Amino acid sequence: MISNFFFLILLFLLLFHVILMVFVVVYLLSGLISIIFGAPYVPLSQKSIQKILSFGNLSSNDILYDLGCGDGRILMSGIFDFNVSKAVGYEIAPWPYFKTLFLIKLNQLKRIKLSRINCLKADISQATFIYLYLFPKLVDKIAYKIVREGKLKTRVLCVAFPIDTNRHIEFQLIKSEKLENLMAYLYELKAPT
Ligand SMILES: C[S@@+](CC[C@H](N)C(=O)[O-])C[C@H]1O[C@@H](n2cnc3c(N)ncnc32)[C@H](O)[C@@H]1O
Repeated sequence: MISNFFFLILLFLLLFHVILMVFVVVYLLSGLISIIFGAPYVPLSQKSIQKILSFGNLSSNDILYDLGCGDGRILMSGIFDFNVSKAVGYEIAPWPYFKTLFLIKLNQLKRIKLSRINCLKADISQATFIYLYLFPKLVDKIAYKIVREGKLKTRVLCVAFPIDTNRHIEFQLIKSEKLENLMAYLYELKAPT
C-alpha cells in the first residue's frame, strides 16, 4: 500500500519534471528561432502599445498587420482599443505563437488571423496598416516586400528601427516621435514618381 503511494508520488514528480523540461526547451528554442529569423521576443507594455498605435492614427477602417506579432498584444489592442476591421499576425517562434493562439481561442477573437510562418512569406496584399518592431536587417527586407506586394497608401509604423528612406524612396516619413523611451516612425507607401 505504502510502496504504491511512493510509486505514485515518484511518477508524479517524474511527469512534472518532463513537462517542465519540455517547456524550458520550447522556450529556449523559441528565443533562438526569433533571433535567427530577425528579432528577439521583446513585447511592449500595454501603456506603450496604446500610445504607439494612437500615434499611427490606427482606426476602425484599418486592416492591421503585425509582422512578428509576439504574444499578439498589438493585434488585441487593435481589436479592443481601436476596433480595427481585421488584425493579422505572423509569428515564427513557437512560444509566443502558441500563447497568442491560446488567447485568441480563449477570447473567441474571430477578427484576428494568426500564422506561424516567416513574415517574409506573409500575404500583405490586404494590409492598410503594417506594424514592425524588428531588427534593421529584417525591416529592410520587409520594406522591399511592401513595395512589391503592398497597396498604395499603406501606413507602416516602425518601432525602434526605421526604414532607410534613402534606399527605400517609395516610403514617405509622415512623422516620428519618442514614445515611452522608444522611437516610433510612421510612413506611407507613395505612388512611384
Ligand atoms: C520585438 S518582438 C515584437 C513583438 C510584438 N510585435 C510587439 O511589438 O509587442 C519581435 C517578434 O518577431 C518575431 N520574429 C522575428 N523574426 C520573424 C520572422 N522572420 N517572421 C515572423 N516572426 C518573426 C520574434 O519571434 C518576436 O516574437
